[in-house]
Amino acid sequence: MERDMVKREGCLLEALVSAALSGGDTRSGTPLAYRRALITGATSGIGRAFAEVLPPTTDLLLVGRNPAALAEVERKLARPGRTIETVEADLADEASVATVVARGDAFGIDLLINNAGVGRLGAVVSNPPASERNAVAVNVMAVVLLTRGLVPGMIARARGDRRRAGLIILASTAAFGPVPYFTTYAASKAFDLSFAEGVAEELRGQPIDVLALCPGATRSQFGARAGFSGGNLPGALDPHTVARQGLAALGRHRVKVTGIDQAYLNPALLPRCVATRVLGGVMRAVVDRMAAGSPPAAPPSRSRSVRG
Ligand SMILES: NC(=O)c1ccc[n+]([C@@H]2O[C@H](COP(=O)([O-])OP(=O)(O)OC[C@H]3O[C@@H](n4cnc5c(N)ncnc54)[C@H](OP(=O)(O)O)[C@@H]3O)[C@@H](O)[C@H]2O)c1
Repeated sequence: MERDMVKREGCLLEALVSAALSGGDTRSGTPLAYRRALITGATSGIGRAFAEVLPPTTDLLLVGRNPAALAEVERKLARPGRTIETVEADLADEASVATVVARGDAFGIDLLINNAGVGRLGAVVSNPPASERNAVAVNVMAVVLLTRGLVPGMIARARGDRRRAGLIILASTAAFGPVPYFTTYAASKAFDLSFAEGVAEELRGQPIDVLALCPGATRSQFGARAGFSGGNLPGALDPHTVARQGLAALGRHRVKVTGIDQAYLNPALLPRCVATRVLGGVMRAVVDRMAAGSPPAAPPSRSRSVRG
């Protein structure tokens, strides 16, 4: 019963959050074949799904923090003639991000998927400062540094080979407006969306396609890690569907929303301040329910722990 209520609130959350802007077609035909892809957060969820749905003709550079999980994905996707390398890196650490840039350049990538992301349910002033910093470091800073560090080389190689490169940045339906009690996460995703759209315009005319991929609820470890209990939201998409839709949209659109009807995302539906107030009430109820469901020893705060 309680779980159903949380799920319903989650659905409403997804329906209330955001507004979608879609660029016009920039390419027609089937998804491009990429030679070498770098995927961050390739050990789980959508990132792993990207690794699995890319064709075996695409070599992979997989990034994550968990060496055993990286090795497992590498083993599963290995094929004769296919190169798969892994980089163990914490993207919250700038020195590690620099290592990933160097490895990506040396690998000669033509597809960069900035996928890794984290969030933490709870009020900004209640959450541990480290978790708020972590969300900004991984969702914002690492995305900027990887994009700035790798895209110039990708464009140069694409021009030399007379091909096109690709850049996908994972935003979210939470990118389209404030989400109280998930504030830092939603703000970081708003950055990702705006950043991707801005970079796409700056690179207009260059041999690279840029996409902000904005998933709605997707089955992965994300929710549990962020402190939501009750499992995945009803209607949550399979991560492989999200990855496939993202790859299909790359080069056709600048923004792709998955898992939710774009009609719900019209900002004219509700004034922003009203939407924020309504969503704040929904999210506060969710946080209170999570806190009520905590083991007795848990601190009585409006926040929950997230792994990592
Ligand atoms: N699932 C959803 O409903 C949903 C909705 C909208 C947007 N998104 C976005 O989709 C992206 C993928 O999320 P997901 O749902 O697939 O979540 P997930 O299952 O939790 O996977 C997250 C991935 O990011 C990696 N990661 C986390 N922190 C990292 C760090 N500091 N350094 C390096 N890698 C790190 C994790 O690897 P390790 O933990 O092994 O290091 C894992 O591979 C995120 O950007 C998320 O914001 C998800």
